[in-house]
Amino acid sequence: MHSSDTLHSVTPFHYPTTKLPKVGTTIFSVMSQLAAQHGAINLSQGFPDFEGPEALRERVTYHMAHGANQYAPMTGMPSLREAIAEKVERLYGCQVDVETEVTVTSGATEAIFAAISAVVRAGDEVIVFDPCYDCYEPAIEINGGICRHLPLTLPEFNIDWQLLKSSLTPRTRMIIVNTPHNPSGATLSKADLDQLADLVRDTHILLLGDEVYEHIVFDDQPHNSLLTHAELAARSFVVSSFGKTYHTTGWKVGYCIAPAPLSVELRKVHQYLTFSTATPLQLAIADYMKKDPHYTNELPAFYQQKRDLFCALIRDSGFSFTPAKGTYFQLVDYSAVSDLDDVSFARWLTVEKGVAAIPVSVFCAEPNPSMKLVRFCFAKGADTLNQAGARLCQL
Ligand SMILES: Cc1ncc(COP(=O)(O)O)c(C=O)c1O
Repeated sequence: MHSSDTLHSVTPFHYPTTKLPKVGTTIFSVMSQLAAQHGAINLSQGFPDFEGPEALRERVTYHMAHGANQYAPMTGMPSLREAIAEKVERLYGCQVDVETEVTVTSGATEAIFAAISAVVRAGDEVIVFDPCYDCYEPAIEINGGICRHLPLTLPEFNIDWQLLKSSLTPRTRMIIVNTPHNPSGATLSKADLDQLADLVRDTHILLLGDEVYEHIVFDDQPHNSLLTHAELAARSFVVSSFGKTYHTTGWKVGYCIAPAPLSVELRKVHQYLTFSTATPLQLAIADYMKKDPHYTNELPAFYQQKRDLFCALIRDSGFSFTPAKGTYFQLVDYSAVSDLDDVSFARWLTVEKGVAAIPVSVFCAEPNPSMKLVRFCFAKGADTLNQAGARLCQL
């Protein structure tokens, strides 16, 4: 092979057509790369630019130095599963069986893929709400399922219950709900959970609750987990991510809580997808949860302060917005600033003005052309937010 050859230029082989024709590189990688290339402040991809608790990171080093370097049990380290079970009982009043109903996964992404793969068969329909996080649809489609996109109603990003009702068919296998919601920050209320229960009662529809921002909810609102609603919990996979909670997105540790019969099926996939998740990370998180179980009580105030700072910084900009109810994202309407479509606007903002954002249309199967929204991540230090705010006010 010459140095200029690539593998496929010298191999006469007919490569298969793609199984995922709609999938390209995720927008989060694209925008982060563009931000790096142009030295822009990266408020696009959702990750903190500050460290998680030192005591937590020290426990990883400790466990690595003390021999915890082999495979963890397939379902997760017992101490971590116990800590998760204690947490959901304390916060959501939901008792789960540590052995049969809690599974530690390699990030929420793996849990979502495993849950969908475990139950969605060819021709099954799965309902998602747009704008929706981008990992659901490929997981549905690679399993032969059909992804049905229902728009959330603007400006509050609520579920249209009538539309959902009329969209259910005998083939509907699953509904995916994401609360607090990325990218809008909207949250489901108790009344929403009751509406959902009314719709799925007497059906075989399963639910997937993507609750990775469960601890990032503002203005003294509770997080209404599917686990708080016994009727819903009985048919749900509920997924969370320690990456969001402990500012450690790079560790990719998450979990899924599901009734034993659903967990059995989830684990059949998880077992051959990753088998298990990094042992020292699991042990460290378990130690930290035990040492400081109330850490999560402080998280809303921690992020609310960042949301309020960011909103104050852009109050006099040309953007209009309603402060997010949860997550570490703020949506803004830029229609008073530019006529560009949102993808072009996000690129322009990154390249020309030095602040990277995520266009919201990429989360929608059928973007509404009049929707002029971009998402900023405010999980950043005050200096970064101040600098970004100053640039955004100059538009
Ligand atoms: C709504 C939502 N679900 C799932 C994930 C994935 O979480 P993890 O990094 O733990 O795989 C993210 C990460 O950004 C997210 O925003």
